[in-house]
Amino acid sequence: MRVIIKPDYQSVSSWAAHYIADRIKRFAPTPNHPFVLGLPTGSTPLGVYNELIKMNQQKQISFADVITFNMDEYVGLPADHPQSYHRFMFENFFNHIDIKKQNIHILNGMAQDVEKECANYEKSILTCGGIELFLGGIGEDGHIAFNEPFSSLNSRTRVQVLTSDTIRVNSRFFDNDISQVPSTAMTVGVGTIMDAREVLILATGAKKAKAVYHGIEGAISHKWTISALQNHERGIIVCDDAAASQLEPETIKYFKDIER
Ligand code: GLP
Repeated sequence: MRVIIKPDYQSVSSWAAHYIADRIKRFAPTPNHPFVLGLPTGSTPLGVYNELIKMNQQKQISFADVITFNMDEYVGLPADHPQSYHRFMFENFFNHIDIKKQNIHILNGMAQDVEKECANYEKSILTCGGIELFLGGIGEDGHIAFNEPFSSLNSRTRVQVLTSDTIRVNSRFFDNDISQVPSTAMTVGVGTIMDAREVLILATGAKKAKAVYHGIEGAISHKWTISALQNHERGIIVCDDAAASQLEPETIKYFKDIER
């Protein structure tokens, strides 16, 4: 695993955005050989999206031959709901870049048959050749996408019941009213994320420090689903000093030295 420790949110966002842009450029995507990118929502990736939008507008990077798959969506929220992950993605990223609408994939929270929706999502990922790079955030309890603690580390796209903690944390986007937060979501599984050829996880702020500690220094455990990244051949966590603050000093020294 690579761990990149930067001083603050802005430098984490900038590092990750440049990394993604470089990966896409080196891949040299074409319509017949598109770059498949997995994407998250949440407040953490906003800085990365802003940087990528700037680079796109300055013609440093194009998303014309990029296919995207989002990680998750709330069950029961229509695409135009202000808190749906559809709306989030269009408002904060897709509306501002040159991506083709038909290349965007997000689970449909209003699907009649949610099981079928999840199974079809897995099939679509495979049909597109698998995900080249999955960008993700992390929950305070170490969840990736909506893979709450004790999700199978082999899990695939499915419906997940959200924990009270996640509902409480996410209620900040729903007027701080927990009754407005859906209690279930569709999410790619830990196994779906780990099948990506590369996984890049962002973690910023002291609230993520415990999850970062368990992800990097803890045992591989379904209790902290982020810890599955330890088994990935190309896993990267990019975090700020605050999120790295519960790592042992030797661990911080090691990663800062090797990434200098
Ligand atoms: C939600 C999303 C996750 C995200 C997490 C943290 O639970 N499903 O993908 O990583 O929130 O969000 P934030 O970046 O706002 O802390």
